[in-house]
Amino acid sequence: MMDRRRFLTVGAIALAAGLGLSAPAAAQESVKIGLILPMTGPFASTGRQVEAGARLYMSKHGDTVAGRKIELLLKDDAGTPDQTKRTAQEMVVNDKVSFLAGFGLTPLAFATAPISTQAKVPTIVMAAATSSITEKSPFIARTSFTLPQASVIIGEWAAENGIKKVVTLVSDYAPGADAQKWFASAFTENGGEIVEEIQVPLRNPDFAPFLQRVKDASPDAVFVFVPSGAGAAFMKQFRDRGLGEAGIRLIGTGDVVDDDILNDMGEAALGTVTAHHYSVAHDSPENDAFVKAFKAANDGMRPNFMGVAGYDGMALIYQALEKTGGDTDGEKVMEAIKGLAWTSPRGPISIDPKTRDIVQNMYIREVKSVDGELYNVEQETFEAVKDPAKEG
Ligand code: PHB
Repeated sequence: MMDRRRFLTVGAIALAAGLGLSAPAAAQESVKIGLILPMTGPFASTGRQVEAGARLYMSKHGDTVAGRKIELLLKDDAGTPDQTKRTAQEMVVNDKVSFLAGFGLTPLAFATAPISTQAKVPTIVMAAATSSITEKSPFIARTSFTLPQASVIIGEWAAENGIKKVVTLVSDYAPGADAQKWFASAFTENGGEIVEEIQVPLRNPDFAPFLQRVKDASPDAVFVFVPSGAGAAFMKQFRDRGLGEAGIRLIGTGDVVDDDILNDMGEAALGTVTAHHYSVAHDSPENDAFVKAFKAANDGMRPNFMGVAGYDGMALIYQALEKTGGDTDGEKVMEAIKGLAWTSPRGPISIDPKTRDIVQNMYIREVKSVDGELYNVEQETFEAVKDPAKEG
């Protein structure tokens, strides 16, 4: 019975192929993208931003590419790796997705990488930013950023701008370790000194005791990495502990002053200098159009760097499918992704063909009040920065 059914199926496929039916049949099937994001829990702001960016791209560019309809399947992983992995598995096996995408935190991307490899499913990391993620599977590409990209730029800037002693304060997980390591090496190679290294818990951190340690060390500046969303609680404690009044400057990667929450941080945020790849205040026609459309579609919500990476993640998928003529074969799609280059709202970007990681401008920005709102105003541009952790 089994054999006979198998024979019939094989026969039917062979017949369809012989009659030239397989191509049009495939063309009618939609391409499914499994978007897995933290939509609940402490990192829900990341999920909300990435989803909004991805949906905006689709609403601007339509839901058909190379003759194939695109279908976005969104699932909430609440920011927990077990759930991300289980969801990815279900999406590959049951929903037959052609892409996995999203990944709001590094551990969630790490948990999924073996599935990407086994199933040969192109996996687009739109948020997580530990350098090594793209090395965990040849089927991973990234549209967010890497912590070394941002940390080296601000490390050099600090050493060149009169900052001599720094305390580093980072969330205690992989991207925090990347930020600490690459900031410290750039800063000390250029003459700076790290006086203390502090790790704070990732979940529900109470920053107060750690900021007291920073104050007691009285450095010229504190370098900070906390993931998107955590900056509000950090800034409140920075103000309440009087670090600014004590003459301690705040520098970091741009995550601590993310545009989604910056406006509510108040005066304590003014003067914060960070290195990052996206500011809502980026001055370009592409960004003006993006910000207007994003706000209009999301009740006035400002896009942050997560929103733009969701938007660009969809841009990457669309362009790859155009190149393959709608073919979703994992290996062909990954070949098509390598070397893609386009103008994002953040500036020119490309996918490094060797590493599948993003190459992009990094900007030094300072928080300023413009027309009564707080913005990360870009002051200096470093062009086409590759992930320094993968160079050489
Ligand atoms: C990460 O977990 O990789 C991550 C999350 C949020 C950020 C940056 C990195 O803002």
